[in-house]
Amino acid sequence: MTLSQLADSTGQPIGTVEISRDISQRRALMNQVIQSERLAAVGRLAAGVAHEINNPLAVIAEVAGYLEDVLAGISGDEKVNVEREFQEGLTTIAAHVNRCRDITHRLLGFARKSEARLEVADVNAALDEILPFLEKEARLANVRIHRQDAANIPQVSIEEVQLEEILINLITNSIQAMTKRGHGNIWLAAAEDGDKVILTVRDDGPGIDESVRDRLFDPFVSTKPQGQGTGLGLSICYGIVKRYDGEIRVESKPAEGTTFQVVLRVHHMPSRNKSRS
Ligand SMILES: Nc1ncnc2c1ncn2[C@@H]1O[C@H](COP(=O)(O)OP(=O)(O)OP(=O)(O)O)[C@@H](O)[C@H]1O
Ligand SMILES: [Mg+2]
Repeated sequence: MTLSQLADSTGQPIGTVEISRDISQRRALMNQVIQSERLAAVGRLAAGVAHEINNPLAVIAEVAGYLEDVLAGISGDEKVNVEREFQEGLTTIAAHVNRCRDITHRLLGFARKSEARLEVADVNAALDEILPFLEKEARLANVRIHRQDAANIPQVSIEEVQLEEILINLITNSIQAMTKRGHGNIWLAAAEDGDKVILTVRDDGPGIDESVRDRLFDPFVSTKPQGQGTGLGLSICYGIVKRYDGEIRVESKPAEGTTFQVVLRVHHMPSRNKSRS
């Protein structure tokens, strides 16, 4: 509603002009747009969750199948060996079931900001957690993973499962990029840089295809055949890194390799923060 005063030639108020406009239609349309944007966000989220859960599920299925094979081939004297392999297999299965649970919890947390989480991660602990099963995948592709010592790297401000998710996605991409050629190397490093920690995943693979270079962090951008890549890995990494006020960079040269760097904040103890301010 717009109201304006009406005056005569001497400036004396003699009345008001009132213009009313019915905006209920415009408002309904706007609500519709908001609603459909929400639905699109839910769709993206569901696709992201499906993608993240696929990694641990693949490991669970593989280990379970392996245990089945072991069980089928068991004979008297092998019993001690078999027990150890079973124990290792079961530990791996439990770890990956936990990962699935963390991912679904995170999804629920997204819906209803639930419990507070510990937002501090140790780079070495994250690598210890994920490397055993990534190394298996790398061995199959004849790819060597070189892990630089990162013993004195400070803890970083990010939830540990999320850091693991980023590293899994970057390392898996490198392995997949070199699988066709049948050999390659991946170098993992971490360095302290002032108030930041820089994590580096470098490979000597084919480099990033020109067709996807400019849209690398957009969802659904992939050069992999249908059914093999959803093109969500890097967009998930980007989303996580941004949420923690970090950065992700990439450098790549055809036939030479690709380097991804993730920059995260050093986590300061609350007491240290207090004495600083
Ligand atoms: N280390 C790398 N070397 C070469 N190309 C890469 C590398 N990392 C990513 N890419 C390219 O970037 C594209 C997008 O990667 P992203 O992880 O987002 O999706 P994806 O790996 O194709 O699918 P998903 O991660 O869902 O399985 C890949 O399809 C690939 O072409
Ligand atoms: Mg990927």
